[in-house]
Amino acid sequence: MLAVLLFAAFWVVLGFMVFFFGIRGGPSAAMDVPGRRGSYAGRRAMAWVFVVTYIAFGIVLPALFLIGNHNSANGQVGGIKLTAAEKRGREIFGERCGLCHTLAAANAVGKVGPNLDQIQPTQQLVLHTIEYGCLQNPPSGSQEACLGEGTMPADVVQGIDATDVAKFVSKVAGQE
Ligand code: HEC
Repeated sequence: MLAVLLFAAFWVVLGFMVFFFGIRGGPSAAMDVPGRRGSYAGRRAMAWVFVVTYIAFGIVLPALFLIGNHNSANGQVGGIKLTAAEKRGREIFGERCGLCHTLAAANAVGKVGPNLDQIQPTQQLVLHTIEYGCLQNPPSGSQEACLGEGTMPADVVQGIDATDVAKFVSKVAGQE
């Protein structure tokens, strides 16, 4: 919103400058008082105002907008805002889980394990699965029991990494 206002302000200011110099016959006419020292300095000052204005509005502001957009794009998945922890989780997911699992929000298309967009696991289930892994034929009542579709290694990631991945997956699965 601020960006839009600044952008509009730039064109308004530019418009006034053009108008001002237009009716006065250009920067030199606006500044020049014949036979006086200082007219040269005045013109130089005007030139600097133009240069600074152009750099500030023409280069710096657009660059800031682009960076700002880039940041907010990274922080969003299909309109869902990610926290810093969830962003970390997405990176870790891409490195450690995406080989085996499909998850649209992480651009992951692995086919070894189940599609997480379909399972839509809770944070707890993801954490539990990471911690204990999955066995295809687990002894009854064991912690490694999963869907029975294959084997997933335990402790692919640990500690805060595991928590961040779990937050990310449970937030975005099936959302994109
Ligand atoms: C080596 C391949 C592989 C990797 C790497 C892997 N998984 Fe799995 N994952 C599997 C397989 C296979 C299953 C299915 C196990 C089953 O159903 O018995 C599974 C199942 C799951 C399930 C479903 C569990 C359930 O009970 O429904 C979740 C959630 C999961 N994985 C999350 C993850 C996360 C998060 C990571 C990254 C930290 C990860 N996986 C890394 C292969 C993998």
